[in-house]
Amino acid sequence: MDAKDMGNDLEKILLTEEQLQNKLDEMARDIDEVYGSEDILVIGVLRGAVMVVADLVRKIHAPVTMDWMAVSSYGSGTKSSGVVRILKDLDTDVMERDVLIIEDIIDSGLTLSWLKSNLESRGARSVRIATMLRKPEAAKVEIDVDFLGFDIPNEFVVGYGLDYAEDYRHLPFIGTLAPHVYGG
Ligand code: XMP
Ligand code: MG
Repeated sequence: MDAKDMGNDLEKILLTEEQLQNKLDEMARDIDEVYGSEDILVIGVLRGAVMVVADLVRKIHAPVTMDWMAVSSYGSGTKSSGVVRILKDLDTDVMERDVLIIEDIIDSGLTLSWLKSNLESRGARSVRIATMLRKPEAAKVEIDVDFLGFDIPNEFVVGYGLDYAEDYRHLPFIGTLAPHVYGG
């Protein structure tokens, strides 16, 4: 599938399926190098990270177990405030575990910085972060990203787990929306 199949809703393809999968191969190699044969507790952040988690865990050789969290940040309008509410908590005890949080995208960084200290305060032995995308221009807090896919411009992107009004998550690539779709 390419942008033409989406009608004219997508403005352009930012990252092709091949680019994404090649990058995930690299990230998985780096992750294996860091963890060796240690057990990793992968925590996926619902719902955007579903695709990254599914693809990445199949490329990692280290032993992995998976759990999921859903969070929402309070704030004025669409802006993240850093005050995070847990919508779905883990089923797993993270005490003494080596945790790898997997995210689709870091925007302001507020959600992840909250999540990282939350997991540390529950007694995780280590907490590392892997994200497919990061928007450096949108950063409000500094976050140590251990495994990074791509830095992208500060534009709204969809596909590969990322949605606009719950649409586009299923696309195997990442694209930017045409302004008419979101009323621009
Ligand atoms: P922070 O706290 O880093 O929030 O500001 C990250 C969350 O914001 C959402 N987000 C996006 N979702 N396209 C999307 O579909 C985007 O371009 C985008 N930028 C930020 C996303 O839910 C992420 O987890
Ligand atoms: Mg979303």
